Amino acid sequence: MRYLRILLPLLMLLGISVQAQSPTFDGVGRTPTAEEIRAWDISISPTGEELPPGSGTATEGAQLFLQKGCAGCHGLTGTGGPAPRLLKRDAGPDADPWSLGRILPIRSPYATTVWDYINRGMPLMQEGTLSPDEVYSLTAYLLFLNDVIEEEKVLDEQSLPKVEMPNRDAWAPLPDWWKPGMPRLTRYPYRLGILRPNRRQPDGSRDIWIHNFTQGVNKVTFTGAAAWPVWSPEGDKIIFQGEGERDLWITNASGLGQPGLIMTSELPIIAEAYSANGGHLIYRVGEDSKGDIFTRW
Ligand code: HEC
Repeated sequence: MRYLRILLPLLMLLGISVQAQSPTFDGVGRTPTAEEIRAWDISISPTGEELPPGSGTATEGAQLFLQKGCAGCHGLTGTGGPAPRLLKRDAGPDADPWSLGRILPIRSPYATTVWDYINRGMPLMQEGTLSPDEVYSLTAYLLFLNDVIEEEKVLDEQSLPKVEMPNRDAWAPLPDWWKPGMPRLTRYPYRLGILRPNRRQPDGSRDIWIHNFTQGVNKVTFTGAAAWPVWSPEGDKIIFQGEGERDLWITNASGLGQPGLIMTSELPIIAEAYSANGGHLIYRVGEDSKGDIFTRW
């Protein structure tokens, strides 16, 4: 006991002095060393400024595709294997890239992303074994196979970021208020909140609250009988189940104004999701998990 009395404050003191130097994580790990961070820090951004020096062509890439075992999984020419095809379907040059299936070398908005993917993830089970030259060559080969670049084109840290991907402008743009470095969880992060849906208060009531990152906590329903909320795509409205669990309501996420009744049902009804284009509400009707899914404009 006497020891403990001395030891405990001593340990606490030591703990505090260690904490002052670097964050501690209470038994779940330690701060990574600068060297470890460097080894993990392999992300290549769209601008390609992090690309290592090196170069390669489609011709070299075609050989590597066989040598490095890519063909074993993706098929001899990037199609016909068990892994995803890497070759665009036999669609005309004007085909909508979104209709061509999941083919990174054609769907990605940036050629640098194709490089990054191969560098960090392929060949599967032997990730990280390719040299920069090999990754440039394999990227060139896949871009050539998909008619994005000419066969002779030399890809290196200068030319790769300049490759114009056919799908470049078909992606949703960043919101104009967002700047690099800002946290971004959704398209509308400032409106993102955590809804408190189904926990009843001790008196049996339940209401919907929004925890807004910038504005704090906000109550949006006041009847004590609101549950199962879903966000509208723009983040400005909330649909929820009302009194008696047989009706759906819509209200402003700000909490201002009166909720409007959307629909009623003979069985319990729960809104599941609001389609991204705002056009459809997906909802479930029925008891517990046995309900059926419906949509409605
Ligand atoms: C052991 C099997 C295997 C090998 C070997 C392999 N891959 Fe893959 N590859 C896969 C699988 C599986 C996926 C899909 C991974 C996923 O969805 O997460 C994939 C995905 C990819 C993609 C993205 C596909 C897409 O359209 O989204 C590319 C590009 C790619 N591989 C290139 C290569 C290259 C280049 C090599 C050779 C250096 C290679 N792969 C070797 C199994 C393999």
